[in-house]
Amino acid sequence: MFTAALSFPADFDGWRAAARRALLSGVRPQDMAFTVGDETPGLFAEPLPEPPSEAPQPSVPKSFMELAARLVCHADADRFTFAYKLLWRLQGQKSLLQVASDTDVLRAAEMEKAVRRDAHKMKAFVRFREVETEDGARHYVAWFEPFHHIVERTAPFFMRRFPGMVWTIMTPERTAHWDGAELTFLPGASKEMRPKDDDMEALWLTYYASIFNPARLKVKAMQAEMPKKYWHNMPETALIGGLVAGAEAASRRMLETAPTLPSLRHVRQVERGEERVRAGSGTSEAFAGFNKRPETIEEAREQARHCKACDLWEPATQTVFGKGPPDAPVIFVGEQPGDQEDIAGEPFIGPAGKVFDQALAAAGVDRERAYVTNSVKHFKFTPRGKRRIHMKPNIGEVRACHGWLEIERDLIRPKLLVALGATAAAAILGKSVTIRDTRSKLIDLDETTKLLVTVHPAYILRLPDPEAQRRETAAFNADMGLVLDFLPELKAAA
Ligand code: URA
Repeated sequence: MFTAALSFPADFDGWRAAARRALLSGVRPQDMAFTVGDETPGLFAEPLPEPPSEAPQPSVPKSFMELAARLVCHADADRFTFAYKLLWRLQGQKSLLQVASDTDVLRAAEMEKAVRRDAHKMKAFVRFREVETEDGARHYVAWFEPFHHIVERTAPFFMRRFPGMVWTIMTPERTAHWDGAELTFLPGASKEMRPKDDDMEALWLTYYASIFNPARLKVKAMQAEMPKKYWHNMPETALIGGLVAGAEAASRRMLETAPTLPSLRHVRQVERGEERVRAGSGTSEAFAGFNKRPETIEEAREQARHCKACDLWEPATQTVFGKGPPDAPVIFVGEQPGDQEDIAGEPFIGPAGKVFDQALAAAGVDRERAYVTNSVKHFKFTPRGKRRIHMKPNIGEVRACHGWLEIERDLIRPKLLVALGATAAAAILGKSVTIRDTRSKLIDLDETTKLLVTVHPAYILRLPDPEAQRRETAAFNADMGLVLDFLPELKAAA
């Protein structure tokens, strides 16, 4: 039996050199073996012979080399010989890899898939912890237990992702280390060397709790995606029990803050089986449709009652125009009326409106002195049973409604516009922006008007984690404080 020694469990370069030599020497797959690291070769092992100088060069499709690079990462003890067998067969059958029914091709596909999946898990589930070093430098260490020999293959991903960090990923078999300039691989580590908890843990916990959606909880699917094997390496899994246990209550809370019962007119529509929401029908022609350009807010409100610039008018109960003094120094702009606003005909009086009111009160802003409106003036929803579930307006609908916002701005001439959320910011600026980039800054809209962008209050309501809610509420209140700093005339009477 010819035997080639490879240096480590996924030594692709070593395999490629040995396989080439074996192929040139005509060594059949059944006569070929590989050893890894300090494994001892079999009793009858022979080194590979020197290939004859006149041997024809083997031809290998590039796609095979990519496949082989993954196959040698598989945990199968026979992986190197199997990859060699495929290479051997390819010499006589160039299109072998296209024969999907071939048992070797099928096996290779399965192995490749398993390796890809394991690498994906490593990218998703590695959690670095900060450890102290003697020289006081920051060093991040992670412990991970892959199924396959994927450390060499996957470590470059972390190098690209965290180029400025000094990090080490320890696994039972191999250790990858990045010192900020060079990626090196060392033997495996033992579980006892796993780093202890650190401050990053708290960050992960907050992050995980904030992205957790109790209404979407599917325990089986979650465990299939994130097998329990990985849990002990991931700080956030400490939360899973509590979040799962609390999911029902949190779901209920979400439902409570979700739409109320619809108007009778709407119930009748649903009973007749009329699902009337049609999306994407907005046009910007509405404002060609002003009977005459409104000269007061009251006139604009009256005209807007009859607006049919997009299809949202039809299933909605009524147009919800802005509300507040016609000379308000500030206009707060939301996204669109919600279920309760649609019924009452006033903006921000439902659950999101309560968060808004609380933030104004916390900052000492008098809502009565502000004008409050929305980017889209009809409620967009989809019926679910007897409930109406909020749907985000599309760009056509925002555009179709834009003339109303323009006229509100023109007639009121505020010193400040406050965009509550990304839809409002886009409606005002005429382009998409991220809250992250624009939040809490006073942006010049024209010589006399500034814009302040903040989150939509419904965003805070949707956060399932009470701690994240508290943090975001404080940030939102602080933004309302900025409004008061800029416009002290909004100060509520003590
Ligand atoms: N959300 C909004 O954007 N506006 C409202 O009026 C109510 C909820």
